[in-house]
Amino acid sequence: MEAAYQNIENELKKLYRDEKERIASLAGTYLGDMDNPVFGDGNFHARLMFIGEAPGSDEALIGKPFVGKAGMQLDEMLKAAQIDRSEVFITNVVKYRPMKPTSRRMSNRTPSAREIREGLELLRREIALVRPSMIASLGNTPLAAMSLIAGIDVMKIGDVHAAPTVIEIGGLSAILFPLYHPASTIYNRELTQVLQDDLVSLGKIYTQMRMKI
Ligand code: URA
Repeated sequence: MEAAYQNIENELKKLYRDEKERIASLAGTYLGDMDNPVFGDGNFHARLMFIGEAPGSDEALIGKPFVGKAGMQLDEMLKAAQIDRSEVFITNVVKYRPMKPTSRRMSNRTPSAREIREGLELLRREIALVRPSMIASLGNTPLAAMSLIAGIDVMKIGDVHAAPTVIEIGGLSAILFPLYHPASTIYNRELTQVLQDDLVSLGKIYTQMRMKI
């Protein structure tokens, strides 16, 4: 394997080891699956990074982001954008599954503002190592996280979906491309076509960017 690629992998592994310890120390502070954290996965030389909110139960079980139902949804999204999953790097803002009790079982919950803030430093470092030219945020949580990291006003997905913004992160210039979270189409069917159109735009920008290399 190429030395630079190996180096990124080793640096990420170190970061993830430290995060695993931090997450274990949070047991009892936040309700979540602190025993089964899920870290970034994919191509360490990716030009495009996808950022989700936090793992769900399938991800915690398998130990990779966007597997199971959410993974199938992401695969559909990539297909619509004509992008191969092997080309991208995928991570989440929060690396453990945030949970809440419901009548019969534990379900997922949206991470709190504090949990999001605590995830920012690791996310910033993942971006600094992978150095993507384009970052696709999936839903409001990663959009807020990216706005905070880039030091710009926090945006809402309904206002800015598919509107690319150039952001600067520690000397790296990247295009932030906000997308709806794939699960949002379950609650609002009208978003299915919106997301589909947004993905076609993402695919076009990504293809142009790849041709410039
Ligand atoms: N939803 C996310 O935001 N991230 C995952 O990894 C899975 C589902």
